[in-house]
Amino acid sequence: MRTYDVKILLVAAMVAAVALPAVAGDDRPTAGFRAEHAGIKEHLRHLDSKVGALAGATGAERRKTMVFVVKFLTEHILTHAAWEEAHLYPVVDERAGRQGEAFTASMRYEHGIIGRAIEGLSSQAGAARPDTKAFARAADRTLGIIGAHFEKEEEVFLPLLDRSMTRAEVDAVLSAAPAH
Ligand SMILES: [Fe+2]
Ligand SMILES: [Fe+2]
Repeated sequence: MRTYDVKILLVAAMVAAVALPAVAGDDRPTAGFRAEHAGIKEHLRHLDSKVGALAGATGAERRKTMVFVVKFLTEHILTHAAWEEAHLYPVVDERAGRQGEAFTASMRYEHGIIGRAIEGLSSQAGAARPDTKAFARAADRTLGIIGAHFEKEEEVFLPLLDRSMTRAEVDAVLSAAPAH
């Protein structure tokens, strides 16, 4: 495991210990987690508009935007994915009742796809002479995959928990510190 991965997992463990606030008016058991998703999606929309403005930006602004996009995705999306794999997905697997078969397997795999896409953006942004157009195309694709992934979690995984758990049960599981 690379130092980079270890750092992400350590941050994920710290995030996991924080209780999740719910959006006012949302009384679903997974409201706290949905609020976390909503916050990240707002940042992703901001990233999307930044990527859209890349073509008209100056050289220095382009570099700054590319670094910003990679930094956000690395610090927030990868951390979020590691936290889900440690805390959310095991509960979804358990509630799906698939007798040991990981119901979340394809979404865990998709975390890997997203991770590789972010690594690719990082290499492009770090090039001596970055190709801004290619970066913008790759960033669009990456944001598209992330958007679809979030929707699948919200529309397939979370309803499973909403149907079978109370808000207190969801919060207790999702805010628990990981086992060492
Ligand atoms: Fe995820
Ligand atoms: Fe997620």
